[in-house]
Amino acid sequence: MRSSSSSFRARIAAALLASAATVGALLTAAAPAAHAADTPLRDLGAAKGKVIGTAVTGSKLTGTYGDIAGTQFGSLTPGNAMKWGSVEPTQGTFNWAEADQIVAFAQAHNQQVRGHTLVWHSQNPGWLTNGSWTSAQLSTLLQNHIDTEVGRYKGRIAAWDVVNEPFNEDGTYRSTLWYNGLGADYIATALTRARAADPAAKLYINDYNVEGVNAKSTALYNLVKSLKERGVPIDGVGLQAHLILGQVPSTLQQNIQRFADLGVDVAITELDIRMTLPSDSTKLAQQKADYKAVTAACVAVARCVNFTVWGFTDSDSWVESTFPGQGAATPYDANYAPKPAYYGISEALGGTTTPPPTGACTAAYSVGSQWNTGFTGNVTISCSGASLSSWRVSWTYGAGQQITQAWNATCTQSGAAVSCQNASYNGTVPDGGSVSFGFNASWSGSNPVPTVTLG
Ligand code: G3I
Repeated sequence: MRSSSSSFRARIAAALLASAATVGALLTAAAPAAHAADTPLRDLGAAKGKVIGTAVTGSKLTGTYGDIAGTQFGSLTPGNAMKWGSVEPTQGTFNWAEADQIVAFAQAHNQQVRGHTLVWHSQNPGWLTNGSWTSAQLSTLLQNHIDTEVGRYKGRIAAWDVVNEPFNEDGTYRSTLWYNGLGADYIATALTRARAADPAAKLYINDYNVEGVNAKSTALYNLVKSLKERGVPIDGVGLQAHLILGQVPSTLQQNIQRFADLGVDVAITELDIRMTLPSDSTKLAQQKADYKAVTAACVAVARCVNFTVWGFTDSDSWVESTFPGQGAATPYDANYAPKPAYYGISEALGGTTTPPPTGACTAAYSVGSQWNTGFTGNVTISCSGASLSSWRVSWTYGAGQQITQAWNATCTQSGAAVSCQNASYNGTVPDGGSVSFGFNASWSGSNPVPTVTLG
């Protein structure tokens, strides 16, 4: 499916001469949306020796979400699908459906998978957390879980977050089912077992608030040092990087470097940068600078091998539900248009991009649900610093798609050429506003996203 990247050209809006009689303005718009002709992040990363990844939700890997996930990223992390509570909700009854789906998608798109996560205090099944276990029983449960899950995906996982979030903020061990039942050596036990189950997978300890040099990251540093001295298998540390706007730690690169000097790889595993809603151009510009700074810190250290965002679109982020009033934390907006943050990553990876100009109206095409013979499409026309009193959007299908029905626009298709114009009631797109229309269409073979022209 990598070949689809050439056909996955983003939506652009062409120069548009508005009627002087109606809006009295010359609207020039050339907004490359999701990817335009820009080099995909995964290719930019590869040129720098970095694998660029995203967390994903398996059920969403179709349509535009799937296109972006498959085209832009070289690594996928299941956001929830590989957690113990997801894979073994009832003791002895396994549900691998979403995890299998993500691994299969990754293989089809020539992507790595980061396995997340084997040993954690959260998102465990009720039967496990509510049970009353002896240390021996707990140790057996832990080891069997690792054998089962790592063994199932043996050879298909590039790296496992074996242990997730073992520390408190002050650097002491977090009180968890595992620490309380087995002592700190549950970490060594888990790593050793994971190595035996899949010798090729890189084994990580992953935590948050360990991005800068601080008490917690120093505890992680000391743990890794001692594990290495003891000969316990440990290949890398994951810095989650759930950050707050304007608060990239000044010691990020120094911290990455000290782990590299210890002889382990480093991954940015869950990057997002949240802001107080609503977003505005000032906050988005700061967010771009922050994303760029984190990317640059990884680029600067050879052993920073993977740079993963925790969801690539604001429509698929944990932030809003966890921090009320906060959000817009990812590089793409909820309509799959790249935000300034996207260009921050791209620029730090050496990409040259053309961000959308200010004062323009743009049209963005996306595929919603898709089934074996048909799909529902959506086009959103948005204006910022400009406005429209009527509009026409056109595109050419590259794979035989055929529109069967449209709503909120009048669409005609002649051969591969489609032209849609506003209905009587939605020609006006005000400055700062948007208008959408939808359609049903048939497809077979492939369903690449066409380049759309507004004008
Ligand atoms: O699947 C159920 C759904 O059936 C139900 O209707 C719904 C109602 O709340 O819940 C759904 O499950 C939610 C699940 O995400 C899937 O969306 C859980 O409630 C929710 O708690 C869970 O949140 C996840 C969170 O980990 C749990 O701590 C986030 O999606 C996930 O992004 C987040 O990821 C963690 C990393 O694993 C570790 N580092 C921090 C990071 C952010 O918290």
